[in-house]
Amino acid sequence: MFPDYFEGPLDVSIVRRAVEDGLLEVDLIDLRDHGLGKHRQLDDTPFGGGPGMVMMIEPLASALEPLSSTTRILFTPAGIPMTQATLDRWAGLPEITFVCGRYEGVDQRIVDHFIDEEVSLGDYVLAGGEVAAAAAIEGVSRLIPGVVGNPESTDRESFRGGLLEEPVYTRPAEYQGWSVPDVLLSGDHARIEEWRREQRFRRTKERRPDLMSNGEDSDT
Ligand code: ADE
Repeated sequence: MFPDYFEGPLDVSIVRRAVEDGLLEVDLIDLRDHGLGKHRQLDDTPFGGGPGMVMMIEPLASALEPLSSTTRILFTPAGIPMTQATLDRWAGLPEITFVCGRYEGVDQRIVDHFIDEEVSLGDYVLAGGEVAAAAAIEGVSRLIPGVVGNPESTDRESFRGGLLEEPVYTRPAEYQGWSVPDVLLSGDHARIEEWRREQRFRRTKERRPDLMSNGEDSDT
């Protein structure tokens, strides 16, 4: 319903570069073009009563029918949470359609007949799925081979090893009396690696104990 929303996210950094380099193509569909009647209606009141509006079948069916060869994802707070594993899987797909739900939801028959996965950005309610779609596009883009310069930077980072990343530092070694941990300046690569490992475990245990059972060899 709001294709203009994507002008910003598609026009910066990694996503922009991926598109410019021909590694990614993004087509925006304006649902309004599929709206009903002279007002191009997209939503209606819910059967059974209650607050808000529900996105109608016809406009979504008309937009989604030609995209049946793609994997169709609906963003909704009622979906399965999006994780790095979700993005890894999507990055391997040739074509994905992200459907941005609005209002109180989408007529369930659309979900039943046109949607492959219902996915949530997290346990909070947004006004619609646009932010989730922008996050997904950015997260998937950087996994496309050739988009991010250093392939190591996509596998060493948070969640790849099932743990959060360690803290990082750069010059100057001291700023207003705040110094960098000595070990990082020691040149002893074995000790540095050990320190980083420890930091990853400590952070994860403190902030995300739910990830700890995965261990370091998990693929999530
Ligand atoms: N639409 C509204 N809230 C959302 C969420 N948390 N994730 C995905 N889509 C949404």
